[in-house]
Amino acid sequence: MIVHTALGAVGLDESGRGVPVLWLHGFPHDRSVWAPQLASPAPGFRYLAPDLPGFGESVQLPDPSLDAWADWIATLLDTLAIDRAVIAGLSMGGYLALAFWRRHPGRVLALVLADTRAGADSEETRSKRRERQGLVRAEGPGVIADLMIPGMVGQTTRAERPAVVATIHAVMQRASVAGIVDGLQALMDRDDSTATLATVTVPTLVLCGEEDVLTPVADSQLIAAGIAGSRLALMPGVGHVSNIEAPEVFNALLSDFLAATIRTDKT
Ligand code: MLT
Repeated sequence: MIVHTALGAVGLDESGRGVPVLWLHGFPHDRSVWAPQLASPAPGFRYLAPDLPGFGESVQLPDPSLDAWADWIATLLDTLAIDRAVIAGLSMGGYLALAFWRRHPGRVLALVLADTRAGADSEETRSKRRERQGLVRAEGPGVIADLMIPGMVGQTTRAERPAVVATIHAVMQRASVAGIVDGLQALMDRDDSTATLATVTVPTLVLCGEEDVLTPVADSQLIAAGIAGSRLALMPGVGHVSNIEAPEVFNALLSDFLAATIRTDKT
């Protein structure tokens, strides 16, 4: 469905009833990547998956930055009359979850940080992203999808489940040029969240596919070490898009975490 907020139209899917869990997708994805989670919400939870600004059916923001996107999330929650939510992000969605925690900590019930990292881009990565902005403007989204697909999916999934590879490739291929350009800008300008980790006081689950080469296990270990009391779960035989490569395992880890940390009888 489309939700209209003060900041424009937002593409949004939802399922389940209860405590809200907001799912933030990676780059250059859209809300469809959360289909395996929305198909099976944990009992007592309401799953909400928006397209981030410039992706899917959501309008771009004038300022393509993770901080502006974090404020956009607060506006979306206002529109939905949601005070606090579990904030769950994968990769870029994880960077955004940490920015949201920094700017709106009172609205976070718990964090789920999947296949992501706390650090900012290196100068080398920034220059690669600038190059990709030029490439996508010149050649379209297909070139980005082709460049990113080898790192996006783990080697086991590539060998055994080509349909998963095709699905995520198709998602990236249908991203808009403007969305990709803005996304790259937001990624390269993002703040380093390493110092933020010690400020996190809500229950946190850190998840990572053991075959993730884009945000390797070491990045998740650093996040988990930095957030007091967090849980770290590593997923064998799984790459970067852990939620679609191994949805049953991912969903079970989520359900266990939510059941253990969030009371559902109070909302
Ligand atoms: C993502 O999956 O969101 C991106 O690969 C993250 C990144 O490029 O840093």
